[in-house]
Amino acid sequence: MKDIVVSDKVSEFNRDVLEGLTSGQKYLPSKYFYNERGSDLFEQICGLDEYYPTDSEVSIMQHEIDEITEYIDDHVQLIELGSGSSMKTRLLLDHCKDLEMYVPVDISETFLNETARKLQADYPDLDIRPVAADYTTPFDVPESDAIKKRVVYFPGSTIGNFTRGRASVFLETVGENVSPGDGLLIGVDSKKDVGVLEAAYNDSKGITAEFNKNILVRINRELDANFDLDHFQHRAFYNVREGRIEMHLESLKNQAVYINGNRISFEKGETIHTENSHKYTVEEFEDIAGNYFERKKTWTDDREYFSVHYFERV
Ligand code: AVI
Repeated sequence: MKDIVVSDKVSEFNRDVLEGLTSGQKYLPSKYFYNERGSDLFEQICGLDEYYPTDSEVSIMQHEIDEITEYIDDHVQLIELGSGSSMKTRLLLDHCKDLEMYVPVDISETFLNETARKLQADYPDLDIRPVAADYTTPFDVPESDAIKKRVVYFPGSTIGNFTRGRASVFLETVGENVSPGDGLLIGVDSKKDVGVLEAAYNDSKGITAEFNKNILVRINRELDANFDLDHFQHRAFYNVREGRIEMHLESLKNQAVYINGNRISFEKGETIHTENSHKYTVEEFEDIAGNYFERKKTWTDDREYFSVHYFERV
């Protein structure tokens, strides 16, 4: 049984990679960045001077925590999507007075259970129920009669990695799965000076470039491929029309690569589109969430680089 699950996952990765690399504009789904090495590189990105989103969001949470937790009031079930190491969550857990249950949801089961174990040790009275799931598809949330309200927490502007259409559908699905009066606490990156945006995705230490190229390392290792990393370069730029940073890997010459025996050719200058990171004004994001949610409050940092919104399910 175990073997079947593993080979299913491999073939899904294989299928997605071949589908993306045989399209007109070649692309790779950004979820494949996050193997162990990719998650580690992402943690490093979060600590970079140029990568402002993490510091901005943390400073909002620190300054506004009292007001934010007023919305996470009475017998709340807090559900965190893509909880990772649950760093920002500790602030919430420290300040919420009457939390009924904390449900971290993450695709990486080992990481999730380890985080939940550490949190449980620090918050012995809190009911912590980790759910290992891909939160972009339906999953079961633990129930309890004591819960009076659900608040979905989605930090980090991960919503920006969805296309606008998919972000809107995703928030509709969240809305369909909670009840009127329930909440959505979400971190969203703002539109800002293009220089600041582009520096955040072209850091001087080259960590983002390594993060981007790691997807090729992964394909080489897991799908018996022969990408030469020296013949692809990291490119990240702001697409003004789409309001997003795009990350690409650009082929530095005409070349062919074999992936599990499939030949994929690249022209010099051709790119593989690996990630979108959308930036939103408050009004734009209100539109995206607006089918089910009404914005109650928005907090920003001093530079207005990032927003944390509380929406209520109508
Ligand atoms: C996870 N996500 C919100 C990050 C972002 O900024 O879009 C991923 C990232 N890609 C490059 N740097 C960081």
